[in-house]
Parts: sequence; structure tokens; C-alpha cells
Amino acid sequence: MVIIYESKTGFTKKYANMLATKTKLKIFSVKEISKVKQDEDIIFLGWLKAGKIQGLNKIRKYNIKTVCGSGSGRTAEPSSDAIIARNKIEGIPFFYLRGGCFPLKELKGMDKIMLSIFLKMLKNRKEKDERIEEAISNIENGFDGVKEENLGPVLEWLKNQEVGK
Ligand SMILES: Cc1cc2nc3c(=O)[nH]c(=O)nc-3n(C[C@H](O)[C@H](O)[C@H](O)COP(=O)(O)O)c2cc1C
Repeated sequence: MVIIYESKTGFTKKYANMLATKTKLKIFSVKEISKVKQDEDIIFLGWLKAGKIQGLNKIRKYNIKTVCGSGSGRTAEPSSDAIIARNKIEGIPFFYLRGGCFPLKELKGMDKIMLSIFLKMLKNRKEKDERIEEAISNIENGFDGVKEENLGPVLEWLKNQEVGK
């Protein structure tokens, strides 16, 4: 079993590194996938962009045992079920890991444009509950939601895999 990750701004990479430290498993970025044997079992971690798990399509032909998606919300956006369907990972365990983001003004290119549109949508909502206010503040000011405890369910899943061997 090895850990493969795709991370743009580093939050998913932090989780991948934490997982590697905890499990002693080898860790590779998607760019290094050629170093991994085709039949190797894989724990994949990728960041979420408009509900799509980034990097996943590049490793489809490998033996993916579990998928973790990192996003900025308290829970998976749009929802875990929607992410599973949109990424065609039915039957593979999926775990959501809260990552983080840099302030909008520090982003560049398409990401900045996409997130600006999203921010405008949030601001235009008539009824803003606490979660919406938090999402607006996080996009504008940035935040880091990476916590070791968030890996608990993934570690639990791994433990059960080992027991079942
Ligand atoms: C353009 C864009 C689209 C995003 N779309 C989603 C999304 O659909 N769902 C979600 O939960 N997070 C979304 N996010 C938040 C990122 O997934 C989150 O910041 C992630 O932790 C970044 O990981 P990284 O630092 O490894 O690149 C989006 C961020 C950007 C910049």
C-alpha cells in the first residue's frame, strides 16, 4: 500500500504527509506515479475543485483502495454522495478531509475567477446562516483547517484492512 496525493496549495499534501508519518507508508505525488507498480494498493488524496477530485483521473488504472477529498468547507461540498457520483468512485470508500485555502487576493488565474464567482453567489444569498458567513470569511481571509484528528476515520479504515488480511 502506498499514498498518492494531488495538492495545489499544500493543504492536501499536509494530510498526505501526516498519514505517511502515522502509517510509515511510502508517499508519492501524482507526478511521481511512474515510480509506483501497477498492482500496488493505493490510498489517494486529492483536492476538490467544483466537486471533482483533482488528480484522480491520472491514476484510474491503478489499484485504488480508498479516496480522500480535501475541500474548504466543514463538510464535503456539494455533498459526499454527489462527489462519489461525480467522480465515479461508487464502491470505493470515500473520506472527506477539511483542508484550507489562501486568501482570494493571493490566488491567480482560473482558480481566482472561479472562486470570485462562488464568493459573489454566497454574498448574494438572502438568508446567510453561520456556515455561509464562515465560508465568505474563509475565502476572503484564508484559513487552515488541517487537523491530525480529521484523519481518524481513514486510520480506522486502514486498521480494519490490516485485520482482514
Ligand atoms: C477554484 C476552486 C474550486 C473549489 N471547489 C471546491 C469544491 O467544490 N468543494 C470543496 O469542498 N472545496 C472546493 N475548493 C476548496 C479546495 O478544495 C480546498 O481549498 C483544498 O483544501 C485545497 O487543497 P490543496 O491545498 O491541496 O490544493 C475549491 C477551491 C478552488 C480554488
